[in-house]
Order: sequence, then structure tokens, then C-alpha cells
Amino acid sequence: SQIYRDGVYGRKPAVPVAAAALRDAAHRRLSKRALGYVAGSAGLETTATANRAAFDAWRVVPHILTDVSERDLGVDLFGRRRPTPYLLAPIGVLDLVHPEADLAVARAATDAGVPMIVSSQASTPMEDIAAAIGGGSWWFQLYWSREDALMESFVSRAEKAGAEAIVVTLDTHLLGWRPRDLDDAYLPFAFGRGIAQYTSDPVFTALVRERATRPRTTQRPTLAALSALASIARHHPGGFWTNLRSPLPRAAVETFLDVFSRPTLTWDDLEKLRQHTTLPILLKGVLHPDDAVRAVDSGVDGIVVSNHGGRQIDGAIASLEALPRVVTAVEDAIPVLFDSGIRGGADAYKALALGAHAVCLGRPYVYGLTLAGTIGVRQVLSHFIAELDLTLGLSGCTSIPDITRDTLRAV
Ligand code: FNR
Repeated sequence: SQIYRDGVYGRKPAVPVAAAALRDAAHRRLSKRALGYVAGSAGLETTATANRAAFDAWRVVPHILTDVSERDLGVDLFGRRRPTPYLLAPIGVLDLVHPEADLAVARAATDAGVPMIVSSQASTPMEDIAAAIGGGSWWFQLYWSREDALMESFVSRAEKAGAEAIVVTLDTHLLGWRPRDLDDAYLPFAFGRGIAQYTSDPVFTALVRERATRPRTTQRPTLAALSALASIARHHPGGFWTNLRSPLPRAAVETFLDVFSRPTLTWDDLEKLRQHTTLPILLKGVLHPDDAVRAVDSGVDGIVVSNHGGRQIDGAIASLEALPRVVTAVEDAIPVLFDSGIRGGADAYKALALGAHAVCLGRPYVYGLTLAGTIGVRQVLSHFIAELDLTLGLSGCTSIPDITRDTLRAV
């Protein structure tokens, strides 16, 4: 109601409230390359479109005449009461859209009581993000490196810095076919962006030093290498990256590209991670119900139904289409989280009604960041929370567990 009152008294929000207006305003602000990276999806982008269409395939059937004057958006997740069912999906390379990048997001997330899932591809080392989050909740998203030692180092750092869970993303063992990035000849990582978790890591820097001494990397730095250096040096002022003639940035990018993922990863490897951390482990990128069953059997603590915002397999099932079967397969054994395509609080309502325990916001908060930094992200979160709260009440529910399948009808 504060948001409506502000409107009545003429206080306009810093970012557009309407989802399409928010997206369009942010798109206008971004460079072509940044736009291609953030807004782009795989192939013909049919899955990105399907993610939206899947929400339109369900309609809310509200109940009337229930007392909804007191409402509670709280959920219990991994032993903690959370004020809302929202989390921030891990999004890499945020310094493409705003200089304060992850730190701006961290401040807004903490202020809203929304846990941030910090990306392996963040623009800021996780320890600095954790400091900006203060005592608030955050989780760490892991891309499982080809080098086990690096994977273990990331997880240890996350645990030490206060992460509450590890989210292993399993749909990106190969990078998807992304025509917009290919047309712009732009892979942000090759320009040294979004590799701050790596360049701040002792295992990684040892790998880079070793590689930098090989003859092939001691040629004159290319433009991409210089750009990489500038980006890396910005995040590590005074570190060993600041020598302009150094072959290190190029070696860093090459090393990163070599170790980023492990396409050989299988179910058996999960045990290694289990041995290494006591934190809850979630698998992100589950779409097949059989994999959901396997995840439960393998002893992980949660899954995230996601198709990576349509950025990996073009033609993949819409995330919301996959959700009901996964929920049925899991039989309430572990929490099922959801992302891909949520653009408003009413979308979140539908995902929760279809059995998600919590939902992750992606591009919309990046748009808020693009337009107005911390305040922009904070407002986007307020809008999501307010719309969910209103949808809840208007449907005759007073709490998240109240939202049941009987208030949804397939069109
Ligand atoms: C992502 N996503 C992602 N996921 C992940 O596990 N690690 C990452 O570093 C990133 N990076 C990333 C960058 C950008 C620009 C986007 C748009 C997405 C996927 C993300 O966590 C989430 O699954 C999607 O954003 C959900 O789709 P929508 O709702 O944003 O369309």
C-alpha cells in the first residue's frame, strides 16, 4: 500500500513499474554488446519466448470472502524463516550494466530480506559481496571447474565468507549457442569481465602464473588482453595484474576458458562435493522429472527448475512447463525452487501454486540495476513483493502455503 500511497502523493518510482517498460528502458540504456549478453538467449530464442507463454497458459481462480487482512509472505527454507519466497538468481558479469555491479545488488537484496545467489561469474570477489550483504543471507552458485582444486577452493571460500548454501549449475557445462554474442564477437569472459572469483583465488592465480611462463602467452598483448587487464586491475587495485606489459591477463583468460567447466561431470562426482562441504547443496538446471528423482536419491538438499532463461538449449521445454512433473516426482522430499521467465508477482504466484517452494528473479533485477543501481534493484524487489502480496490476498490466501493448485486453471 506504500507504493500506491507514494503514487497518490506524486512520488514517481525511480524505475518503471510495468515489466515491459522496465525492460525497454534498460535495453535503451545498454550498449549493443551488453544488451546482447543480458537480453540474448540461445538460438532463435524460442525457449525464452516459451518461458513467458507458459505463464499465460495458467489462470488464477480466486476465492472470495475470506479474511485476508493479515498476510504473511514468509517461507521456511533450509532451516530458516525467510520474509519472502524470493531469491536473486545468480547472474554473472553485472559490471557490464552498472559500475557497482554485485555490490549494488547485495545492498538492495539485504535491505529487502531477499537472499542473493552470488555467481561464479560475478564481477566482484565473493568476500567483498559478503561484506556488502553484512549479516544477510546469501548462497553461492558454483560452476564446477575442470580443476577439482579450484572447485574446492571456491566452496571453501564461500563457506568461510558465510554462504548458506551451494547451488551447482548443471546446464552450462558447455556454453549455449548465443547468436547475439556471436554477432558482436563478444564473450564477456574473454574480455576479462566476470572472472573476479577466479582472479581473487589462490588456486587460480597459481594456475595462471604457471601458464604465463609458457612461451605461447608471452606474445604482445592483444586488444582483448588489454581490456581484460583493465577489467581485472579495476577489481584488484595494486595486485599483480597491474603491469600493462604483463602476459598475465591473457593467461588468466585462457586459463579461465580452460578450467571454467567440466563437461565430464556425472552424478558420481556429487559425492566429492558432499564430502567437501556441510552446507545444503542444490542442483540448478533440473528439467527432467527422472533427474529430479535422481537428485533426491543422490542426497542433495534441493533443486532449481530452470532453463537458464532460455540461454542454453533453444527449443528446451519452458521452465514452468517442466515444474509440475518435477514437483510430482520429488514428492516433497526436498525443496523445489524455480526460475526462468518470472516478470511479475503474479507469475511468482503461479509458480508457487504449481509447487515451487521459492522462486528466483533474474533479468528484471538486472534491469533495475542498469537504470538506478541499488535503488533500482530495491524498487524492483519492492514491486515484486507488493504484487505477490496483493495477488495472494486477492486470491483469498493469507500465506504462501495457502497457495494451492486449486486456485489455478490451465487455459
Ligand atoms: C544468467 N544466469 C546464470 N546462471 C548461473 O547459474 N550462473 C551465472 O553466472 C548466470 N549468469 C547469467 C547472466 C545473465 C545475463 C542472465 C540473463 C542469466 C541464469 C540465471 O541464474 C537464471 O536462471 C535466469 O536469469 C532466469 O531467466 P530470466 O527470468 O532471467 O529470464
